Amino acid sequence: MRITVLGSSAGGGFPQWNCNCHNCAGWRDGSVRAKARTQSSIFVQPSHGQDGVLFNASPDILEQIRTNPILQPSRALRDTAIAGVVLMDGQIDHATGLFMLRERGSPLPLWCTDPVEEDLSRGNPILRVLDHYCRVDRHRIGLEGEAFEVPGVPDLQFRAMPLSSKAAPYSPHREQSVPGDNIGMLISDRRSGLSAFYAPGLGEITPPVFDAMSGADAVLVDGTFWTDDEMIGLGLSRKTARDIGHLPQSGPGGMIEWLGRLPRHTRRLLIHINNTNPILDEDSGERAALGRHGIEVCEDHMTIEL
Ligand code: MLT
Ligand code: MN
Ligand code: ZN
Repeated sequence: MRITVLGSSAGGGFPQWNCNCHNCAGWRDGSVRAKARTQSSIFVQPSHGQDGVLFNASPDILEQIRTNPILQPSRALRDTAIAGVVLMDGQIDHATGLFMLRERGSPLPLWCTDPVEEDLSRGNPILRVLDHYCRVDRHRIGLEGEAFEVPGVPDLQFRAMPLSSKAAPYSPHREQSVPGDNIGMLISDRRSGLSAFYAPGLGEITPPVFDAMSGADAVLVDGTFWTDDEMIGLGLSRKTARDIGHLPQSGPGGMIEWLGRLPRHTRRLLIHINNTNPILDEDSGERAALGRHGIEVCEDHMTIEL
């Protein structure tokens, strides 16, 4: 399979429009060596074939399609390589790009869990609004590890698992998460036998999550924050990373520790990186520390071949 990172940033993108933190201001004035990033999404294709699955529909999707020509194979007057969309949660950064796909000539094939379907029908009724445009052909993602496939994308198989993270602020269960608010996805290629685990919003590594990560050849996991109190320290929020469903990288029980326990051959990548995270600064000590642990930082347009 080929995974193309369309957007490697958390909600807000990098630089964020209204932010003057060290990274955002430094990117603008050239004093920080860092790459701009769009909001959280990947595109996954089988090794043989053009059509693939879009994981998350970011508000930056039109720019992502423009700058990744593989998404527009131009086989007909109206065309797309997006055979289906899979949502990892119902947050703004992962779902509002669905509006931008409204010009489709047929209902949009969409896979999401029941709680996400509910949030996107009520709190933020994107799916109901799309009923007035292309409409949505919704498929339910189960949480019992059932495998599913996306028609038109041969050889790839998907299995979801519930994660401990957070629903969007407009969800009735923002403060009392229910299974399916956030999922991780095991993506397997039947031809190569290789697999990837994708979890852009991951608040806690439970035994089943660690098992899934250990069995994968590559993991693309939550890279939102370096420290638990990153936003508090900057005076930008009163909530910790864990409060909003993101496991920080540093410190005891942090992502670096967990990734260090994976089998040696596992490729380890961080994705969904917040604009405040020091790892965006390519000259930072934090970035160097990741390098020493064999952890890569995703950037837009990067591809991972498995
Ligand atoms: C999150 O994952 O916490 C989001 O990026 C928040 C948002 O999109 O506003
Ligand atoms: Mn997010
Ligand atoms: Zn910033």
